[in-house]
Amino acid sequence: MTSERKIKLAPSILSADFSRLGEQVSEATQAGADYIHLDVMDGQFVPNLTFGPVVIEGLKSYTNLPLDAHLMIVEPDRRIQDFVNAGVDHITVHAEACVHLHKVLQQIKEGGCRAGVALNPTTPIAAIEEALPFLDIVLILTVNPGFGGQVLIPEVLGKVRKLKEMAAEKGCQVEIEVDGGINADTAPSVVRAGADTLVAGSAVFNKQETVAEAVAKLRNSLKELSIP
Ligand code: DX5
Ligand code: ZN
Repeated sequence: MTSERKIKLAPSILSADFSRLGEQVSEATQAGADYIHLDVMDGQFVPNLTFGPVVIEGLKSYTNLPLDAHLMIVEPDRRIQDFVNAGVDHITVHAEACVHLHKVLQQIKEGGCRAGVALNPTTPIAAIEEALPFLDIVLILTVNPGFGGQVLIPEVLGKVRKLKEMAAEKGCQVEIEVDGGINADTAPSVVRAGADTLVAGSAVFNKQETVAEAVAKLRNSLKELSIP
């Protein structure tokens, strides 16, 4: 049975070949991705360092897709404007990194971007219950953020189900994005739990197949699914 609800795919360039990042972004775009997911890490909030606004600005000319920035940084309020200026379309901050979450979400919206909040695997949905009316996106981490290629923690999918119910009860239109360990084997269970958007890094950018083949494989894994 095919569904009304189209699941979006957001390849994360964290696993891409950084020596030809622009090309890889173009490949993901041509393969039919919906967003380009950008994992920004500061070496403090997570134990890894990646890239920032300068690199993102340089990637803009390689795609017309929305740029989906996932900020794994401390004090994100100090950097929002830099990412707005770099031309991203979505800015997602970690709930664990924000003392004044509402204020940060306002900053993001004032910059003309969609506002998102991310939750680490054991941060409860309750932490953002009152923030739901101000959110466009909730990003549920199904691995501990910091690195690509980790195994999805299946227990976290219960949180995806809970969030879907909570958003429906409150009448909030929030996009549920899930990030970490998603591949053709795990994607169906993530979508069944209620995800609207799947972030995938190592399942899209790897040496075993082309980006187009990898994207097709992910989409095919969802084909037989009945999605409400
Ligand atoms: C984890 C990042 C993810 C990462 C996912 O810190 O937020 O976006 O790139 O990588 P995979 O899909 O390989 O788990
Ligand atoms: Zn991410």
